[in-house]
Amino acid sequence: MWLTSSSVGRKFIMALTGICLVLFVTFHCLMNSIAIVWPAAYNVICEFLGANWYALIASMGLALLFIIHIIYAVWLTVMNRKARGNDRYLINKTPKAVEWSSKNMLVLGIVILAFLVVHLIQFWAKMQLEEVLGHHGTVPAAAGTLFIQEAFKEIWTPIVYIIGFVALWFHMTHGFWSMFQSIGWDSTAWIPRWKKIGDWWTSIVVALFVAQAVVFFVQSQKDYYSTQPELQSQYIEMAVAPLNETLPMLNMPSDMQTVKMTMAQIAPQADMMLGMMKMQMPGVDIQAVGQQMLNIVNLVNYLDPTANLPVEALQRAADGQTQQPQMPQMMGQPQAQPQAQPQEAPQGEPKQVSPEQQAADDAPAQEPANPNDKQK
Ligand code: HEM
Repeated sequence: MWLTSSSVGRKFIMALTGICLVLFVTFHCLMNSIAIVWPAAYNVICEFLGANWYALIASMGLALLFIIHIIYAVWLTVMNRKARGNDRYLINKTPKAVEWSSKNMLVLGIVILAFLVVHLIQFWAKMQLEEVLGHHGTVPAAAGTLFIQEAFKEIWTPIVYIIGFVALWFHMTHGFWSMFQSIGWDSTAWIPRWKKIGDWWTSIVVALFVAQAVVFFVQSQKDYYSTQPELQSQYIEMAVAPLNETLPMLNMPSDMQTVKMTMAQIAPQADMMLGMMKMQMPGVDIQAVGQQMLNIVNLVNYLDPTANLPVEALQRAADGQTQQPQMPQMMGQPQAQPQAQPQEAPQGEPKQVSPEQQAADDAPAQEPANPNDKQK
């Protein structure tokens, strides 16, 4: 097939995937810029781009683009080296006009790939992937600005990112005009124009990325994204929504103070309370309720470490170890006699006793046959 068998076809695939990746990077950069000016709106976008079917399809398409782009890049480089044979060692004789980046596209691509691996571990793996796997961390999957804070609190993050952005600048400025050349828009009039457009486009995108890294680093050092009240309510709302869905009658508000006070009452005896609920509401998944409450309490403790809400009882409930309450005790009735009661006769009904049984009962106490009867 022409697209795979000829060098022109392979370059065409590189160009096509390259154009799509440039568009993605541009869109991604503009989206991140929203986090600078309006962090709450950024979280709404993150929620929209979570584990919804359209976002998953887009992510898979994007992954495919990256994979094809990388495979073809390595393939083209190997084929070029083979074609040039020993000539590749005459690299010093390359005309000056051939830019540094054009000779180092593969190396630059590898640096960008290394940056991407770190970046995806910091964000995508904790956001979309966690949501797809149904895992629940302390930070809700759509709380983009909290993940930004977690990442940019580390001093090494902006350093690694800036290295990635520099590599991206060289890679994209060369790739931009080169891909138009590959698809045939390479008239002598247009190549200098593509170069100029590519330089401007890439410089604006990379400058915005650098600005984001600086702003996110500064704000994260001040814990801005975890202490700003509007953002706090947004995170709490994300954690409370699944609970309100499971137990609509609870109608838990998303106000931080109210949630903190409510949870301070529930959390210490949550396993007992949820055990009682399990008996009264057999249709409700109490273990899920326990997990959802635990997520809320963990988040409150994360956002406000002075809250110090206890998690042990909730952890037991989330593990399915709810306590079965002793009903008379719960209802304020006197404690049941520890003496073993006969099981056959339901409470309240007069006991039918045969004359033989009556005689046996009246006889002096003997060693019981059943060891359980020993219990006091
Ligand atoms: C300051 C700079 C950046 C920040 C703050 C940032 C932030 C994020 C966040 C929050 C996500 C997760 C979105 C989600 O899963 O809902 C993400 C995903 C991603 N980012 Fe970045 N990003 C930055 C720079 C870059 C750069 C320079 C590239 C590429 C060269 C890049 C490529 C990606 C890719 C491929 C994904 C996965 C997208 C998906 O599958 O949906 N990011 N980024």
